Amino acid sequence: MELLKDNKDINNSLNSNSSNSYNTYLQYLSNLINIAQKLTPLMIINLNDAFLEQMISILMKSQLVNDNIKILEHFKYNLEDILGLNLDKANKDFENNVYIELVIEYTKLLNSDLIQRYKSNKIINDNDSINDNDSSNINKLREDINSNINYEFVEKYDGKNLFKKSSFKSKKYHEVDNLSEFIIENLNSGNIKNIIELGCGKCYLNEKILISDDVNYIGIDKQAELVDKTNKIISKKITKKENKVKNNQNNNQTDKCNDSSQTNDDNSNKQLSKNSIILYKNIDLSNFNQFYELTLNKYLNSNSNTVLIGLHACGNLTADTIKIFNENKVFSSLIIVGCCTNLLTEYISVNSSQTELFKFYIKNVGFDKYDHFLEETVVFEDNKEKVGYPLSNYVKETFKEFFMGRVIRNSAMQGVAKKEDKYLNINHEGYRKIFFRALLQKYLEVNIPDLRLYYGFGKIKKTNDFKDFVKQAISHLDKSDILKYKKYSTFKTNDDNIDEFYEKYKTYEKYIWALYVIRFKFARLFELIINIDRIVYLMESGIKNCEIFEIFDKDISSRNLLIKAHKYK
Ligand SMILES: C[S@@+](CC[C@H](N)C(=O)[O-])C[C@H]1O[C@@H](n2cnc3c(N)ncnc32)[C@H](O)[C@@H]1O
Repeated sequence: MELLKDNKDINNSLNSNSSNSYNTYLQYLSNLINIAQKLTPLMIINLNDAFLEQMISILMKSQLVNDNIKILEHFKYNLEDILGLNLDKANKDFENNVYIELVIEYTKLLNSDLIQRYKSNKIINDNDSINDNDSSNINKLREDINSNINYEFVEKYDGKNLFKKSSFKSKKYHEVDNLSEFIIENLNSGNIKNIIELGCGKCYLNEKILISDDVNYIGIDKQAELVDKTNKIISKKITKKENKVKNNQNNNQTDKCNDSSQTNDDNSNKQLSKNSIILYKNIDLSNFNQFYELTLNKYLNSNSNTVLIGLHACGNLTADTIKIFNENKVFSSLIIVGCCTNLLTEYISVNSSQTELFKFYIKNVGFDKYDHFLEETVVFEDNKEKVGYPLSNYVKETFKEFFMGRVIRNSAMQGVAKKEDKYLNINHEGYRKIFFRALLQKYLEVNIPDLRLYYGFGKIKKTNDFKDFVKQAISHLDKSDILKYKKYSTFKTNDDNIDEFYEKYKTYEKYIWALYVIRFKFARLFELIINIDRIVYLMESGIKNCEIFEIFDKDISSRNLLIKAHKYK
């Protein structure tokens, strides 16, 4: 298998036929952004702020919101019915309903063949053994996740795993199980013997993907303490394994080596051996090529290919990993699942920063209790190298005024609705909190206007009484680290005044639920935009073999979009 080496190869590669061609992805991305542009003027409103003066008037005037309210009322605020709407029927029942029309358009995109659904061949059953695919197993796993039941790994590859068992939350089990299987398929088909994982955390994956003795693994994470701890765990497990092998084979010792040293230079004298596992901390990713040449290179098998992997590489790490893959010829393949789009830095072009929408958005982002501005993820022209989104020139040049901002990227992280979250009904304690939280911000706007954009109240206990909710929040102001807010800790709430306030504003409740449902329904749209932009970026650089998969069951692990790319001809 040969890697693309120069521009000629790259151009040939781009021009050749591919089922998911560059133009297909461009068209898809453009369709996604066209829908997103209809939603951003609403979705940039933070749920906490929905009742603030300007926001509520935007919500009240919005056709999308008003049409959504018709659906909410028709289905008596039953979230399951609303989110799982039968679109054909709804389209007939609700004439010219903008919300339904948009959902229909969006659902077609969600069901696009471009998003491949990865089907694991092996999943667990009751006995922790491996079975052929069986949907009842997945249903059981979903239930177990709700009941917080843990799973254990079993040895899958006949003695070839380094470690036999370890405890996992069932969600993590599902993620590691599916992703490792996906990676192994690619190791086998791509002559890949070297694996580098960025953001390896506790290195769950290496337990399963070191399928043969000559596969090498290097994990990198910025959390020094975690790396040290993981090193110790791995060393212990390897020693245990080695002792077992020694005992079993009566001094016929295998040559497994754990090269799991903590810093770059500690490794320098060690020879590459079977299954080397090396962990690094505190690596400057902006200088990754040099680090690779000087340090990593010598631990890798030069006769085979290298894959760069990441599981829930948070914030900018996924974007950085994609850039490293793109810029470094030694990597043949990339397999990455991102997460935490709320922490991603977003480039705001001059054009979009001049739009009224952007000005409105920035003016209305609030502060936490340390007086910390909650939108620190937008970056401008002078900080271009820090951009995590958009990566592609296509988005930068074609959609100059389009931006998401942190509030929207936050909603892209929205998990699936849990079973018990069926009703949006205000009598549902869990949901009431959302409504009360928004109403609290309005209460502040009216009674303590300086705190209109102050969000730092911390955890407020569930309550069915708005008065109690406000009192709890105000009492938290005492604990604020910011002196300027301390003066309000003496602010006396008046019970009558709160009751009156509540009565007056509760009629607006439907608007917050409409905003809530719209944010919920379209959360995936923004996650897809971020991911397809990454594919388009890779393709712009000539890497034509790019695919996107749903790698995990979305009801188990909702951050489940995987990008796979490789540079083979
Ligand atoms: C959500 S955790 C996932 C950990 C692991 N992959 C898993 O799935 O269990 C993300 C990890 O990425 C690491 N990380 C984030 N940014 C990083 C960076 N710039 N360099 C190295 N590690 C980073 C974090 O320290 C964290 O351990």
